[in-house]
Amino acid sequence: MKNAPFTFELNPPEFIPSRYDNHITRRLSAMKGQYSNAAAFEAMLSKEDILLYEVYELKLPEVAGELLHGISIVHPGKVGDEYFMTKGHFHTVLDTAEVYYCQKGEGYMVMETPEGDWSVEALYPGAVLYVPPCWAHRSVNTSLAEDLITFFVYPGNAGHDYGTIEDQGFRTLVVEQDGEPAIVDNPRWTSPPVK
Ligand code: 6PG
Ligand code: NI
Repeated sequence: MKNAPFTFELNPPEFIPSRYDNHITRRLSAMKGQYSNAAAFEAMLSKEDILLYEVYELKLPEVAGELLHGISIVHPGKVGDEYFMTKGHFHTVLDTAEVYYCQKGEGYMVMETPEGDWSVEALYPGAVLYVPPCWAHRSVNTSLAEDLITFFVYPGNAGHDYGTIEDQGFRTLVVEQDGEPAIVDNPRWTSPPVK
């Protein structure tokens, strides 16, 4: 039995889909080791395990041919100088791509390949971003006032590899410098092993 066609709506100002199956919430405690300022991270966590981002997903079979899709909402804020962001990941099936369509807010998608190539693309309402196969991706909200809201779609068999990024970090960070977002090298980034 095939899934039946369906429609849902994604409307301003909140962009919470009119239909969804999973609502995933990620709090500060889920990001241990991901922010470069560990002292700022611990100080914030000791006060409150705040909500950093949320994902609304439509449940579909996780097989090639399906297109998994949903909404990602990154809330505004910073840990030290670093803006709130998603964990970020490679897809387990590395050569699977993803499309993001920014609905609201401002930020960047930070991306890199297993070979250490990197790219940072701006996200703003109306921006459609293509993340090619093999590129790890993390969204960063550079507004300190409003949510960064994106619609995403990726192949059903892609899966998520979080461990590689947890171990090596992203090569680039997005931080606030003199009140403006700046893209800087991650001093703690470890280059991928030579194969
Ligand atoms: C995916 C998408 C996207 C992503 C969210 C949260 O492959 O599932 O890239 O849905 O999961 O933006 O980001 P993290 O999965 O990195 O926490
Ligand atoms: Ni992805």
